[in-house]
Amino acid sequence: MVTKDFHRLTVAEVVPETDEARSIRFAVPGELADLYRFRAGQHLTLRTFIEGEEVRRNYSLCTAPADGDLMVTVKQIAGGVFSNWVARDLKAGDEIDVMPPHGSFTVDFDPGQAQRYVGFAGGSGITPVMSLIRTALSTEPESRFTLFYGNRDAGSIIFLEQLAALKDRYLGRFELFHFLSDEEGDVRLFNGMLDRETCDAAIASLVPEPEEVAAWFICGPGPMMDAAEAALTERAIAHERIHVERFTAGRPSAALAAEMAQLQQQASGLTMSVTLDGRTRKVPFTHGNILDSARESGLPAPFACKAGVCATCRARVTAGEVSMAARYGLTDEEIEAGYVLTCQSVPKGEGVAVDYDA
Ligand code: FES
Repeated sequence: MVTKDFHRLTVAEVVPETDEARSIRFAVPGELADLYRFRAGQHLTLRTFIEGEEVRRNYSLCTAPADGDLMVTVKQIAGGVFSNWVARDLKAGDEIDVMPPHGSFTVDFDPGQAQRYVGFAGGSGITPVMSLIRTALSTEPESRFTLFYGNRDAGSIIFLEQLAALKDRYLGRFELFHFLSDEEGDVRLFNGMLDRETCDAAIASLVPEPEEVAAWFICGPGPMMDAAEAALTERAIAHERIHVERFTAGRPSAALAAEMAQLQQQASGLTMSVTLDGRTRKVPFTHGNILDSARESGLPAPFACKAGVCATCRARVTAGEVSMAARYGLTDEEIEAGYVLTCQSVPKGEGVAVDYDA
């Protein structure tokens, strides 16, 4: 059974990474160690109460599982309720509710493999990629990792020193290329954002055999991710080798929003069966989506972003059919296996059953 209950963890350390970013390391008591074991590239849902309001956010782990540290990185954003609270108030010794790690922005690493990996990261999108780099290089002694990392200027580069140290430590196996939009260096390719043209040029000149790359990891601002993904798709890179982790969702098209509104209306009053924490209950579809309706019936169904990105609300459809709007947080394999994001899903008729424990 997949458990998505929050546990109160103590903050062991808050580490300043740049003026805008801090890493939070949690102390994990021995009895919870198994529950908080993670895979490279996964994330945590954090919950706290700020001025009486419950606030939940997802942040990626920056450490490798073998490091033994449960640590996420939070970048302060203008108007960001949680990230500003972290910057202003959070200190070692405080406690936060933390959900066990989850997420599918990962691959299986195996010491017997000699693979080639490439990452495109932008800004705080480096966080899960950092976890993947550390894991790939330490777990697979014959594997290589190339990172294309876009930032505004040198002062805003998260993990600047750690990345340089990894380069020294894994000489010849880790290649690192910084792209800066607000600072000019000697090499034209590295001046500017990781837009489509730059992604194309970086692959063409720095990845000799793209078809040999076992996995491409993409995480950062939306336009950068779209550019990198399009550059790979155009090169006919197999879809299953391209791993994308989004932090935010685009606005749904007017047509999709209208379609979902109509489906919500049609679904109103339908009965659904919801399994959570080993218990199954019948609940009515009242409004919004399956998640909102389940929670309105008193079920503590898990969620964080409510925007189809984080997959915290993932459940498996075990009967009936549902319509799903945004699905960024799911892989094709998960969709094929019947998983949906309940914050984006509406039942299409009577008899729908979803299982949060699957
Ligand atoms: S709550 Fe984040 S995808 Fe549903």
